[in-house]
Amino acid sequence: MDKKRVGILISGRGSNMMSLVEASRDPAYPAEIVTVISSRPEAPGLDWAAGRGLPVRAIDHRAHASRQDFDSALHEALTAAGVDLVCCAGFMRLMTAGFVEKWRGRMLNIHPSLLPAFKGLDAQAQALAAGVKIAGCTVHFVEPEMDSGPIVAQAAVPVLPDDTPDGLAARILAAEHKLYPHALRLVASGTARLVNGRVVVNGTVNQTAQLFSPAL
Ligand code: GRF
Repeated sequence: MDKKRVGILISGRGSNMMSLVEASRDPAYPAEIVTVISSRPEAPGLDWAAGRGLPVRAIDHRAHASRQDFDSALHEALTAAGVDLVCCAGFMRLMTAGFVEKWRGRMLNIHPSLLPAFKGLDAQAQALAAGVKIAGCTVHFVEPEMDSGPIVAQAAVPVLPDDTPDGLAARILAAEHKLYPHALRLVASGTARLVNGRVVVNGTVNQTAQLFSPAL
């Protein structure tokens, strides 16, 4: 199988990165993780990935004078690793439009809300404050504007009466860990394609998994 070469960008804990790495261990998975890059050298996720024998890089954003410099270093590292697809997974840096343009249609992000609602930080607390009864998470192609871009897949998660931001975040995170490997599979296999700024998914839909769309 011609697997897509994936670079994962993190800044911290890296639990979504872990779910992608675990999924990619399946020989039938259409993507392999060829590099994990962190914007923070002290990110716990970097140690985990290194411990798994994955090629890791820290590109410290504090060591770069400007966003452009940082994004150039990032682009070089991804290119040197022969990356086809980029997965942002808790990557806490705003990217320059130039960088996004270079990876347009080849870069995914996960966000803990049902976009376009609740962009930005503390999406789970925003959802609670708004009183929504269904929350969730979204994997989308990255566009220059933060937390926007064609949606590949979403998962819905209930909001419970006594939810705290942490409790809701944990419930959403469990869904993220299923959704991101699923979305990357769709994109890496070519099952999901960008057509006129929207994502079109080919193939059959499993009606028993309706809270994941496209269904698992
Ligand atoms: C996740 O909730 C993700 O949706 C958001 O940042 C968090 C990262 O968590 N973009 P982790 O580092 O993947 O554990």
